[in-house]
Amino acid sequence: MSCTKGSCCPPKKADETTYDMVREYYGKVLTTSGDLKTSACTACTIPPKYVTDAIALVPSEVNEKFYGCGAPLPAGIDGLTVLDLGSGSGRDCYIAAKLVGPKGRVIGVDMTDEQLDVARAHVNAFAERLGWEPQLEFRKGYIERIQEAGIEDGSIDIAISNCVVNLSPDKHAVLQGVYHALRSGGEFYFSDVYADRRLSKEARSHAVLVGECIGGALYTEDFRRICEEIGFTKPRIVSQTVVDVEDPELVQVVEGATFYSITYRLFKAGDQEDREENYGQMATYRGTFADEKDAYQLDKDIKLPTGQSVPVSGNVADILQTSWLHPHFSVEGNRDRHFGLFQPGTSTATCKPTADRTPAKSGCCGGGRTC
Ligand SMILES: C[S@@+](CC[C@H](N)C(=O)[O-])C[C@H]1O[C@@H](n2cnc3c(N)ncnc32)[C@H](O)[C@@H]1O
Repeated sequence: MSCTKGSCCPPKKADETTYDMVREYYGKVLTTSGDLKTSACTACTIPPKYVTDAIALVPSEVNEKFYGCGAPLPAGIDGLTVLDLGSGSGRDCYIAAKLVGPKGRVIGVDMTDEQLDVARAHVNAFAERLGWEPQLEFRKGYIERIQEAGIEDGSIDIAISNCVVNLSPDKHAVLQGVYHALRSGGEFYFSDVYADRRLSKEARSHAVLVGECIGGALYTEDFRRICEEIGFTKPRIVSQTVVDVEDPELVQVVEGATFYSITYRLFKAGDQEDREENYGQMATYRGTFADEKDAYQLDKDIKLPTGQSVPVSGNVADILQTSWLHPHFSVEGNRDRHFGLFQPGTSTATCKPTADRTPAKSGCCGGGRTC
């Protein structure tokens, strides 16, 4: 077998240095989230209720060693197979195990023994709390080479990750590996730290900045370019908060950069364009996700109220028709006729049929449709 990027290549020397630094930090330096020096690896967004309900069941040692920066757990994953990249002490895997139920499956991958030990230690106690046996396992491995951890191509419905990709010396390999591991229509739903610019070499190699998920933060536009190159849909932002760097020494090293904790959605779905185009397509949410009865929030800007037909861009229509979300939506229209760029803001307006079928000039029908 030839050695291709992200498969059987042994790690480069520079990568080994990063792995050692990160393993030391998460295996030895930190004992609980109280030891962190910045707010980057601590979630400050309030998770949805279905997540907080599940957190209440997670064993306390697992919760105390949670170093994530978000709540990357989509609603409606009952029965699905979930992979967590850099699962740490396992908090998100435990939550996901509750959400996927007895028929679903959750696999956590991490390279640090101390983290894996904690994650594995509480599975039996968790099963007792649930009252059923979760299909939950933790495997040792590198997120750049998940195939080596036994993750087969096309075997995963939802990949998640919480404040880990920034720690990788080869982020392209991570995203490429996830893309291969996902089934067609699958999704990478994850939280991580990003920067508003490319960081200096000094910032990228600063032990505390790297360990605290800041030194390895990717410039958001470079992240978008990698996603596009691999074939993912355009990154959709679920939530975004600023990460404060207050320590005077660290402030100097980052040279004015602003950092964000962002939860992104990347779909492995059909026919995407580089901009949101308007074909007059309309989508209706069926209200079928148990935890999102009244409306479905696709990202921070797009909310689809139950039972109401709303204008959507060609890209959104495609995601709703070809991804794992498709049983929950109906989409009207196709790309036969184009009406220009999709105007942001029109996507949340509702379109009510009227007796007078006059063509709409603008607004709720996304142009070109009658309402
Ligand atoms: C900031 S912690 C987050 C842990 C977990 N996701 C959480 O939310 O608590 C980063 C974790 O990623 C793991 N990690 C970092 N780089 C990795 C890599 N290249 N391959 C596998 N695991 C990695 C570390 O061992 C550590 O457990």
